[in-house]
Amino acid sequence: MCGIVGHIGEGNSAEILIEGLKRLEYRGYDSSGIAVLEGGSLSVDKATGKLANLTAITDHKKYSANIGIGHTRWATHGGVTHANAHPHMASDKAVVVHNGIVENYKELRAELQAQGHEFASDTDTEVIAHLAIELAKTINDETALLKAIIARLDGSYAFALLMTDFPDCLLVARNASPLAIGIGEGAYFVASDAMAMSSQTQRVIYLKDNDYAIVRKNEALIYDKGDQCANREEVIVSANPGLVSKGGYRHFMEKEIHEQPDAIAHTLSAMTDEAGTLTACLSEDELKNMTGLVMLAAGTSHYAGLVGRYWIEKLSGVPVTVEVASEYRYRAPVTSHLSHAIAISQSGESLDTLMALRHAQDEGLKSIALVNVDHSTIARESDFILPTRAGPEIGVASTKAFTAQLTVLLSLAIALGRAKGVISAEEAKERHEELQKLPSLVGKCLSLFEPLRPIAHELSKARSCLFLGRDSLFPIALEGALKLKELSYIHAEGFAAGEMKHGPIALIEDGLPVISLLGADALSQKVISNLKEAQARGAKIILLAADDVADEVDFASDVCRLPNCSEYLMPFILTVPAQILAYLTASEKGTDVDQPRNLAKSVTVE
Ligand code: M6R
Repeated sequence: MCGIVGHIGEGNSAEILIEGLKRLEYRGYDSSGIAVLEGGSLSVDKATGKLANLTAITDHKKYSANIGIGHTRWATHGGVTHANAHPHMASDKAVVVHNGIVENYKELRAELQAQGHEFASDTDTEVIAHLAIELAKTINDETALLKAIIARLDGSYAFALLMTDFPDCLLVARNASPLAIGIGEGAYFVASDAMAMSSQTQRVIYLKDNDYAIVRKNEALIYDKGDQCANREEVIVSANPGLVSKGGYRHFMEKEIHEQPDAIAHTLSAMTDEAGTLTACLSEDELKNMTGLVMLAAGTSHYAGLVGRYWIEKLSGVPVTVEVASEYRYRAPVTSHLSHAIAISQSGESLDTLMALRHAQDEGLKSIALVNVDHSTIARESDFILPTRAGPEIGVASTKAFTAQLTVLLSLAIALGRAKGVISAEEAKERHEELQKLPSLVGKCLSLFEPLRPIAHELSKARSCLFLGRDSLFPIALEGALKLKELSYIHAEGFAAGEMKHGPIALIEDGLPVISLLGADALSQKVISNLKEAQARGAKIILLAADDVADEVDFASDVCRLPNCSEYLMPFILTVPAQILAYLTASEKGTDVDQPRNLAKSVTVE
């Protein structure tokens, strides 16, 4: 989380930094700021809250600097205050922006305070600026200074440091948090991701862990952790997408919900080879070599993995475990029965997922990145990439990336089942044909905004609610609950419908909304019994159901009918109304749909 940006060379730094921050706001929106060096002096402007609060200040100022750094914050250490907003300055001579956590900041702060340094914030970051000032008393070479600074830091960081003593360069370094250098015409850039620089350049160098660099207007000298000059490959990232607009919708989330038919269709075509066979981007040999999978992910991506497990085990017989990345990375997992680890991540940058993947790689597993961002860290560090083609997802709540992830996982299940001979080529073809109908089925669900509006109106008054599903709809219940809680701040939990009687049923009281996901499948009668048990205890059943079974729940208070489809498509079809319900409920409550409180789109801290 947090986004950093820097510029040196041709162009107006302040304007370039603000433009970069607009593209980085998805990484945090607690506060933002820029620092520029003009006429030998550093000046800092910052504001709490959305970037608009910063631009309200910067729009009225004249800047002419050609070197500067900027930051958008997701608070970790220290509250959301002006003082804690980056950039952080020390002695009017050093200013820093940072993404990550300096784990030994307390010791460093105490040490620096003992040396006379006065701190202005509660952040871990500020120590970097003071450390730079302290070390610069005895080190007058910028490269040696940067090396000395990072030698003192524990934890994760990507930072950019600007000092009056070295007015013609930015001192940057990365460890665990992402950092890229952009090469422009007479200018260099640094940023947390390539998108932040995309209006300036498509030529990008991704720093590796423990790299550090001195960036000037016409060169970037990069060093590896052994202090050797490192020749990092320059890559061309796809053309400047421009600042993604809402395209006439009220919110990015609403737009992204509507983009799902296209996202699924594009992803499906990426999963299909030139002959029209669903291969999931893997060779026949690689598929045959898959003997066991572990999926590593967080949040919504984790729920995609849980759905994928039902499909892959059923269609291919390959055992699958699905792990919360932040737990997996510190476990001693047994991997002897596994061949591949799949990291599922929209951003490809979630630190927990990246670290879990590295852990699995260390255990000898081959790595697969299921990501929406081709040049992301997880993609770059994996043996194979299974791309989702959802396009930029701006809303913090994941929508189209999730259904695109499901598309990849169902494609993989079918391809794997065929390669393993568990399903015949005919069945694989049939499943593929079924999948090709998905964009239009999902398209039909987009007409549910109006029917769901009165339900959302009622739901917005609830303090708590439950989501129930079974089989591959159980993870959709988890996802539905996550969407509702992150957007509307209503307490919501998802349960496997059959698990209710083992405890959660005690939560049911008169009028508790229970959002019930029901497909026309082998378990539908069992789910209906579970719903009856909840209703008998006072629950208000809000039914999202396939048309064929909807009438069987004649005790539901509200019914949302969905197109009938095969059990494999049902998780997609039930996801859409769950997203819409969360969106409409949040809109009723007037919460910030695209940037809910306390969240960030890309979580690059532990
Ligand atoms: O970029 P990732 O898929 O790795 O992100 C994982 C989670 O942080 C993310 O899915 C999060 O749960 C979203 N807010 C869900 O809407």
